Amino acid sequence: MQETLYAERYRPQFHFTAARGWLNDPNGLVYYDGEYHLFFQHNPDSVEWGNMTWGHAVSPDLVHWRQLPNALLPDEMGTMFSGSAVVDWENTAGFQTGAHRTLAALYTAAGNYSPESQGKPFTQCLAYSNDRGRTWTKYADNPVLPHIRSENRDPKVVWHAGTQRWIMALYLDGRDFAFYASPDLKTWGHLHDMTVRDCDECPDFFEMPVEGGAGERRWVWTAANGRYLVGRFDGRRFTPEAEHGPDPQTGEYTAHRSDWGANFYAVQTYSDIPPTDARRIQVAWMARGAYPDMPFNQQMGFPCELTLHRTPKGFRLRRRPAREIARLRDATVTRADVLLSDGETALAESADSLWRIAAVLEPRGARAVGLRVAGQEIGYDVASQQLTCLGRAAPCELVDGRLALEALVDRTSIEVFANAGRVSLSSCYLPADLASRVAAYASAGAARLVSLEASTLRSIW
Ligand code: FRU
Repeated sequence: MQETLYAERYRPQFHFTAARGWLNDPNGLVYYDGEYHLFFQHNPDSVEWGNMTWGHAVSPDLVHWRQLPNALLPDEMGTMFSGSAVVDWENTAGFQTGAHRTLAALYTAAGNYSPESQGKPFTQCLAYSNDRGRTWTKYADNPVLPHIRSENRDPKVVWHAGTQRWIMALYLDGRDFAFYASPDLKTWGHLHDMTVRDCDECPDFFEMPVEGGAGERRWVWTAANGRYLVGRFDGRRFTPEAEHGPDPQTGEYTAHRSDWGANFYAVQTYSDIPPTDARRIQVAWMARGAYPDMPFNQQMGFPCELTLHRTPKGFRLRRRPAREIARLRDATVTRADVLLSDGETALAESADSLWRIAAVLEPRGARAVGLRVAGQEIGYDVASQQLTCLGRAAPCELVDGRLALEALVDRTSIEVFANAGRVSLSSCYLPADLASRVAAYASAGAARLVSLEASTLRSIW
């Protein structure tokens, strides 16, 4: 079977998958010394969830991935649940031995999820690597954060320059999350808890510039489902903007929705992207897609760049595919100013269903407009201002009477981004046929395709 690995029918061709076995959350996203590390929740022994292990892959460009040996294996404290990684530039933990900076990973030991960890609780643990992430040592005095309650988990760590210490965002239980602080990654003090409506698991926490904000910055907190809060952080307390509440009765905050697709979960952003680049890159697990009869199960979303914008309704994130997708560009069809009469206008075709499409549509008098690709529809209903794809809908206003779409189509997924990343829908599907075509359509009236760029993409494998 070795020779067919990565060439299977339902193997995503430019989204990361494990060679074999189950995959879920992206973990430990960190950039160091020319490599983007992608650790991931992995079951190396089965295509079903379980036996959680940190799988590992590296990439020079966020596009091409090489899977390395597993990084963290289950032990007597538990199986290896989600967490994060950072570069310990100042050697705060004192682990550094050679010329390379230490990479430190904070993860959850999920007690009671294996025979060896019977009766043990969920705790937060530390591991480190002094060889660019190739080998990992678990800290001898684990756990660094003892059990708090229930299945508390998913530590995400970020350096806070103002107070010269590490901050951990942690999931507790229900809709409850917490913040902790540490000078050295080994000892953690509690800052405060926070309750967020409709949110659980995998918090992330990071600072971002406000676009066009003349140096203005805010902190962004996200939950597993990508919903987010924007606010201020003084090193002790995260204070969301007034637009998020809190609810006077319950004290809960209300987060903004990010993606509206069916398969978008466990988002995490990269740590330590160099200041010369300074992008905030987020990766999602495209949770619960179907991959029948494949030696692997589940895929990651394509890495996306987040930017923060002040709008009349408050702060909003935009999310767009990392520009490195252009490295995979193969043949490109471009069209400009095409009148779309009622019905379908064929535009491009390919023997595989790997596309990056950028289209600007002007609905004019039509009731609906959109694209058809790989047998699926990316639709826009003018009256209800809804963008739809694979059975899901997102509210989406036209900008100056236009809808700008960017779509990444792989063998088993479609990610749609509208109006420069203001709205996105990430969903999985199964193609009936690998050969595919791209068409635009208008219904109940004529519309205009202002521009189109449809590129077939090369496989990363
Ligand atoms: C999210 C999650 C995390 C947990 C991990 C276990 O998908 O449930 O909360 O750490 O998956 O695989």
